[in-house]
Amino acid sequence: MKEAIDQIFKELGELKATTEKEAEEARIRFLGKKGEVTALMEQFRTVAPELKREYGQKLNELKKAANAKIEELKSAVEQAAVQYGPKEDLSMPGDSMPLGSRHPVSIVRQQIVDIFRKFGYDVAEGPEIEDDYHVFEALNFPPNHPAREMQDTFFVSSGHLNPLLLRTHTSSVQVRTMEKQPLPIRVVCPGRVFRNEAISARAHCIFHQVEGLYIDKDVTFADLKQAILLFAREMFGPETEIRMRPSYFPFTEPSAEVDVSCNICHGKGCNICKGTGWLEIMGCGMVDPNVLKASGIDPAQYSGFAFGMGVERIAMLKWQVNDLRHYFENDMRFLQEFATATEV
Ligand code: DAH
Repeated sequence: MKEAIDQIFKELGELKATTEKEAEEARIRFLGKKGEVTALMEQFRTVAPELKREYGQKLNELKKAANAKIEELKSAVEQAAVQYGPKEDLSMPGDSMPLGSRHPVSIVRQQIVDIFRKFGYDVAEGPEIEDDYHVFEALNFPPNHPAREMQDTFFVSSGHLNPLLLRTHTSSVQVRTMEKQPLPIRVVCPGRVFRNEAISARAHCIFHQVEGLYIDKDVTFADLKQAILLFAREMFGPETEIRMRPSYFPFTEPSAEVDVSCNICHGKGCNICKGTGWLEIMGCGMVDPNVLKASGIDPAQYSGFAFGMGVERIAMLKWQVNDLRHYFENDMRFLQEFATATEV
């Protein structure tokens, strides 16, 4: 036993560890359940009584020395870690946390709203589930008028005089604003609209519109034209020109559709503008006297203009993403292209 104790003392003296793992392995080798020192302690039981005192002392010293050595190794390894840096490499790039970003439709909707806010317009919103009165009746669509078929409506309830439906345009918010807001009125109404259309690259059953309404004394078509020109230049650049084509909407008279000069070819003609040099962006007109009357406004004293545009349509023109479905599929690869697009 004496030789065994001396041998272990010798081994302890030569013991080295450069990592925490090596220090722990050393502890297990000497002091673990099946360790060398532990084994000797067990053998001690068989030592002759007259030698017990001597060996007992030696074994105790050995155990102390082994403990001290292991402690020393462990703290040396720790010290080295403090001195030479932790075992984690702090110069490694961190795990990036994916940040969400605004949806392209939200970016464009906000830009449209911000432009009109600068012109002094308020923002108004209304319900997506509307009644026939606010979507059609008050906007001068008489019952059974063929113009109702311009918009394929999703009905929520039917069978009575004023059925509930998913609004097909945000023009319904015009009516709600005229009903409750004192004159003059200057609002834009952003919102989601619904139409019973087969989904394709050019049509979707859900999309977004921004409606505009301005009612005051002596509002003229010239005011409408100027407001839209200023908007178009803010949205598509200072060189942008507009043109108006006569059109028909039940709620405006006269009515027009507005084109902007193509911001890709600058009027020369390209495949985006189909060679015409112009891109359609909205419908507009002077609010029909019947619409003013329906909401209790006297058309002899007040006049106004209204306009309505599709947000996806404007986004398509800005970014040349010509398949509407991309805006609704939430494919991360598509959405991430707009992560930094606060300004278009
Ligand atoms: N509500 C029309 C649509 O959804 C767009 C529109 C056209 C709105 C002319 C207007 C307007 O306010 O004056 O197609």
